Amino acid sequence: MQTFIENLPKAELHLHIEGTFEPELMFEIAQRNEIDLPFEDVEALRKAYDFSRLQDFLDIYYQGMNVLREEQDFYDLTWAYLTKIHKQNVLHTEIFFDPQGHTDRGIPFETALNGIYNALQDGQKQLGISFGVIMCFLRHLDEDAAMATLEQALAHKDKIIGVGLDSSEMGHPPEKFTNVFARAKAEGFHIVAHAGEEGPPEYVRQALDVLHVERIDHGNRALEDDVLTQRIAKSGMALTVCPLSNLKLCVVDDLKNHPIKKMLKAGLKATINSDDPAYFGGYMNENFGQLAEAVGLTRDEIATLARNGFEATFLPKDQQQALVAKLDAYLATA
Ligand code: ADE
Ligand code: ZN
Repeated sequence: MQTFIENLPKAELHLHIEGTFEPELMFEIAQRNEIDLPFEDVEALRKAYDFSRLQDFLDIYYQGMNVLREEQDFYDLTWAYLTKIHKQNVLHTEIFFDPQGHTDRGIPFETALNGIYNALQDGQKQLGISFGVIMCFLRHLDEDAAMATLEQALAHKDKIIGVGLDSSEMGHPPEKFTNVFARAKAEGFHIVAHAGEEGPPEYVRQALDVLHVERIDHGNRALEDDVLTQRIAKSGMALTVCPLSNLKLCVVDDLKNHPIKKMLKAGLKATINSDDPAYFGGYMNENFGQLAEAVGLTRDEIATLARNGFEATFLPKDQQQALVAKLDAYLATA
């Protein structure tokens, strides 16, 4: 099954580019920017990746991104991710970035965006990976800060396809961002939000009814509410599920208890994604592989998850179909 997964064409729809910061690259960039990391070495940093909830991770994630200063840093980070997923047969990726994690440290919005975007363009040309960029608002900050960030993004509509919502979920419900998401939608951005990772089903409902999301990032806790689950299933809306993230952040206690089969049985359009692979121990193939092993996914279920990934992209229909055709061609021979 592992070989089947490795060669399977895939799309990634839930990936924080700052969450791909591998310790080796972090130390390298820290050194060239003359920044002291509060860790002795790569080993010590990796050891700190032991989380019992989302906030534990976020604290270290924001500390890590502090090393990113120059456009080249953002380029190198993104390029390292692209070369990894290229080897994993990821054909399309829609990545998140957290502009406020940078602008709040005095790094211009354009420094981050241009570094990321230039790498993605080179990835498209040299590796054949198509892409989209989604900027996320940090939900622990207020709506005015999100609105100011959206205003900065308006000059870059050619580079940013959507807006999302991430960071500390509990206590920061989607309705806190009603106005900024309404404005983003009116400006033509695609809309997604993290909901139901740690937060209750009510947060998922708000993401749907107040923010008008087109995909739900995570969505695990929607399963606690049958009516909500049926509604999402009926709408055909995708969930961007992140198995190793769920394990590392204790959303599930054991990968064996991951609800992916329950999601599929409920008719939910689940997709598999890596979230913050440098921190959670794996990219796309590790997420597919370890989940498949833990819950005993069948070949058909794996193929469905990959198909859902392509069908849930924000690509125009013809490009989506071209990717699904590649998947079908693979399935016909594998
Ligand atoms: N930022 C980066 N990864 C995240 C996650 N899994 N949940 C919320 N915010 C995040
Ligand atoms: Zn995430």
